[in-house]
Amino acid sequence: METHFNAVKITDEVYWVGAIDWLIRDFHGYATNRGSTYNAYLIMADDITLIDTVKAPFRDEMMSRIGSVVDPKKIKIIVSNHSEMDHSGSLPEVIDLIGPEKVYASVMGVKTLTDHFHERIAGKVIPVKDGETISLGNMKLIFAETRMLHWPDSMIAFLPERSLLFSQDAFGMHLASFERFDDQIDESILDFEAGKYYANIIMPYAGLVSKLLERVPKTGWDIKLVAPDHGPVWRSKIPWILSRYTRWASGAPSDKAVVVYDTMWQSTALMARAIGEGLSAGGTLAKVMPMAAHHRSDVVTEILNAGALIVGSPTLNNNIFPTMADALVYLKGLRPTNLIGAAFGSYGWSGESVAQLNGLLAEMKVETIDEGIKVKNVPTVDDLAGCFALGKKTSDILKERIK
Ligand code: FEO
Repeated sequence: METHFNAVKITDEVYWVGAIDWLIRDFHGYATNRGSTYNAYLIMADDITLIDTVKAPFRDEMMSRIGSVVDPKKIKIIVSNHSEMDHSGSLPEVIDLIGPEKVYASVMGVKTLTDHFHERIAGKVIPVKDGETISLGNMKLIFAETRMLHWPDSMIAFLPERSLLFSQDAFGMHLASFERFDDQIDESILDFEAGKYYANIIMPYAGLVSKLLERVPKTGWDIKLVAPDHGPVWRSKIPWILSRYTRWASGAPSDKAVVVYDTMWQSTALMARAIGEGLSAGGTLAKVMPMAAHHRSDVVTEILNAGALIVGSPTLNNNIFPTMADALVYLKGLRPTNLIGAAFGSYGWSGESVAQLNGLLAEMKVETIDEGIKVKNVPTVDDLAGCFALGKKTSDILKERIK
């Protein structure tokens, strides 16, 4: 086992003992350009407790960090707040190494862990219910289920003696760094990465986020620290991140439009650029995103606070371009709300792309404001004027909607 990794003190008797993944760039389809962390926390209570574990290849790093504080075999309790493999991949081996007296997960967590690990975990995990409290001797943990935020098993845990909420994936971000606290990281990076995380992981469950944000103040919990399972611990900017979650969960559109497209021979690209010019002329913030230059997860991040989505594709073998299918299927699963939109594209002979894009917009419940623009082969000056007009029209309608 490697022994040169140290724990980081979060507050009295609580330590970060997670792992830093400097290499990861693809988190199930989400481009993690700044890497990530898998956060686990050690509570040095009478009954020493480990909150979550780490992705399997990082088990030794976590064990080393624990070992910098205490002999891991003295851990009596392990809590699994979330079964996804970035947090529970090492759980069976860690249970074998440590031999804790008790392992807790939510009721659904017990099922999900069993589905993943079968006989390796069977009978070893005790279910806790929503609102249940467990004693750590001189401290306690109170659990709250957060089903579908973002898995059915998800839960959070509050340590009242330290005013510390272990928030699991919520309020996290994929950001590899040695800095463990929000106030040690540039705010523009926090803003971008927290938003990207919300857009790509949490967005489909915006309604549940709103309910959680309403529920937590009613618990009476005095929260001074929020420790998520990825990225920094929040200690100075809790109201800041809560206000962002509140805004993102509301789906409130802003005067911003995203033009997503791909192109074969630059005709659809020309149309995209003309639409972008029209949007900008109307005063709307326009982001023109060719799929050859942007990852699907960055497109979704831009859409998080946008009010309009305009999609373009040439027709290739009677279908939309494959990169557009990739982006739009991914986006559809993330269920953005409150968008207006339109479609455009060039074609050579059959020209199905605009109808197919309109169909995808309808499936995403994007309100189309135009039947779309089809151009045969190369757009004329008049065609491009029509594209400009579509951008301007979108801008005008958007302004009315966000008044
Ligand atoms: Fe960070 Fe849903 O796992």
